[in-house]
Amino acid sequence: MTNIKKIPASEITPEHIYNDRRNFIKNLGLILSSSALSTFANTSFGALNSLPSFAQAKNHGNEKLTSLKDITSYNNYYEFGTSKSDPHDHADLLKIDPWSISIEGSVAKPLKLDVDELIKLIPIEERIYRLRCVEGWSMVIPWVGIPLNSLLKKVSPTGNAKYVEFVSLKRPSEMIGQKDDMLDWPYTEGLRLDEAMHPLTILAVGLYGKVLPKQNGAPIRLVVPWKYGFKSIKAITKIRLVEKMPVSTWMKANSKEYGFYANVNPEVDHPRWSQATERRIGESLLAPRLKTEMFNGYQKEVAHLYQGMDLNRYF
Ligand code: MTE
Repeated sequence: MTNIKKIPASEITPEHIYNDRRNFIKNLGLILSSSALSTFANTSFGALNSLPSFAQAKNHGNEKLTSLKDITSYNNYYEFGTSKSDPHDHADLLKIDPWSISIEGSVAKPLKLDVDELIKLIPIEERIYRLRCVEGWSMVIPWVGIPLNSLLKKVSPTGNAKYVEFVSLKRPSEMIGQKDDMLDWPYTEGLRLDEAMHPLTILAVGLYGKVLPKQNGAPIRLVVPWKYGFKSIKAITKIRLVEKMPVSTWMKANSKEYGFYANVNPEVDHPRWSQATERRIGESLLAPRLKTEMFNGYQKEVAHLYQGMDLNRYF
């Protein structure tokens, strides 16, 4: 469906080899120019484009990538049920081909295109980001995607566009969790326009150099690395530029627990879960919890977006 090469199971690189290769590339980066590194990355990752420079610089230090198995079997995707294994067990029912995504609302040049066309329009890149869930766990994931700002620039937002609303799929015949009305379907999310335009914000279409697994939001999902995982809406069908702040699914479900901003912030606890520390999925349950970083480690890049705001109030 997408033009990322579908890799047969026999050719899938085991994570330890992938990690070795990543380290190799990282070390190479210390001695080679960035253009030489791009060439190396291109030959190593086939369809993938060159790695963005800040992803190399912010390769989460020595943090180990979470295994593909954990990334694809411990998920939150309520359209398929509420337990962590439900998406893995039920997402296969979802048909993702054909799949179009429309970008509409306060824009001069609305677009409706297939994910294939989208990837032809905007070069894909690899980004290693930590996903920090508000429930207190985290993973380190090598995403493949496109910067959201490249797409938004193509539709020319008008002066009325202040926020961006994202709408997921509603198809109860294939999304068995939607037979239950525990959430207001379809799942929706929102960002302020400047958050959506920030270069760290991506639309992911793959991970570990392969097409996105269905349980992770295929064919296309949002990833905003300085915000809690629930902002990363999966299976996006519509992106709407709007004037008023959108009310997201989780705000509708429980506005006292889930705010619009949802910035990773170790100083502001969720009513049920401390945000000071996190458990890395895949590590032993006995391993010490890790300290959660302000804005998930991206303070330098994003703190200016919230200057003067009381982050206790705008949580
Ligand atoms: N997107 C949709 N459409 N439905 C969901 O239930 N759950 C969110 C987010 N995106 C969710 C969603 C939550 S709570 C989290 S923590 C992340 O997806 C989890 O992403 P992952 O399963 O790829 O780790």
